[in-house]
Amino acid sequence: MVNPAPIQQSPVAILAIEELQKSYGAIEVLKSISLSIDAGDFLVLVGPSGCGKSTLLNCIAGLEETSAGTICIDGRDVTNVPPRDRDIAMVFQSYALYPTMTVAENIAFGMKIRRVEKSEQKRKIGDVARLLQIEHLLGRRPAHLSGGQRQRVAMGRALVREPKLFLFDEPLSNLDAKLRVEMRAEIKALHQRLDASIVYVTHDQIEAMTLGTKIVVLKDGVIQQFATPAEIYDAPANLFVADFMGSPPMNLIEARVGPQKQGVSIRFGEGTDQHVITGTNPPAALAAYADKPVIVGIRPEDFAVARDDSADLTLRAEMTEHAGSDNFATFALAGKKLMTRLSGKSPIAVGDEVPLSVDTSHICYFDPQTTERIA
Ligand SMILES: Nc1ncnc2c1ncn2[C@@H]1O[C@H](COP(=O)(O)OP(=O)(O)O)[C@@H](O)[C@H]1O
Ligand SMILES: [Mg+2]
Repeated sequence: MVNPAPIQQSPVAILAIEELQKSYGAIEVLKSISLSIDAGDFLVLVGPSGCGKSTLLNCIAGLEETSAGTICIDGRDVTNVPPRDRDIAMVFQSYALYPTMTVAENIAFGMKIRRVEKSEQKRKIGDVARLLQIEHLLGRRPAHLSGGQRQRVAMGRALVREPKLFLFDEPLSNLDAKLRVEMRAEIKALHQRLDASIVYVTHDQIEAMTLGTKIVVLKDGVIQQFATPAEIYDAPANLFVADFMGSPPMNLIEARVGPQKQGVSIRFGEGTDQHVITGTNPPAALAAYADKPVIVGIRPEDFAVARDDSADLTLRAEMTEHAGSDNFATFALAGKKLMTRLSGKSPIAVGDEVPLSVDTSHICYFDPQTTERIA
């Protein structure tokens, strides 16, 4: 007798969006957005200002009606469900705390509306206050809090709801740089501790890379790439993502490629200003581009000052910027600026001819017409 195969129950996505569209009059702000994340995922929506991040988040929250498509939360179609019945909690950029209420009252407000029992309210406020280390602030009013403390209170208000999904819209962008980095680490720790499912909007690619388990890069209402941070960094889907994610950004320089015994020869420039390096592990589809222009992408940290005679390129330094452990040095490569991130110990002066080695296994190639990565 053959044992019946166990039924493979695929886990229900905590959030599943299918072909979502959103227009304001004739203006299409979101164009056929489809994505799905699992419970415990931290999804970051990142892209330049005006690309539709807040609109997408507001559609998930139910604060905006969709023009087409469906939104499911934990397997339930909520496309036409009002916000309060979606089992979500949202933290906005402007924390929207009630100025006349104390911190405790602000945190309790939603529970009061929902007529949660008093003792239960008290217990939850205590738990969340301890978690966010704001116990000593519970009796204060928002006017007497710092920006970071207000941020914590706004998070506390979301946390007591214990929702299926947390939605954050640029919650750190009103904080100064140092506090932003601290709160970023706290949010990450909180996510790991609570195993919460989060959708988080930011225009800051570093926030996206450090916080996200998955990232959506959005441009003009169209998903450019939906992947893990590592995939987005190592294999950006197109020139937009390559340029947007990473700081300083990936060098994107036109070149011609040709077959070679091992790997691929990459030729920058012409005539006397020509430089050739060898790319290892070229993608199969690159074969079709022999002697056609391609855009070659190399991250600044994939350069190093070469030892001995192992240089791949020797270039003249045009600018150097020492930043402690790093030396950001700019070189001229076939008339284009090449940004490198070298060791801070590299003694380089402007005008030096510097032998550079390149980690050639990480090079990306893009089609200049379609702008897509050649895979
Ligand atoms: N209520 C509205 N009416 C008309 N256009 C809007 C409205 N809300 C947003 N938009 C437009 O939609 C686009 C996306 O906005 P938004 O989602 O706020 O972008 P982001 O959050 O990425 O900066 C922008 O071009 C914006 O002008
Ligand atoms: Mg926004």
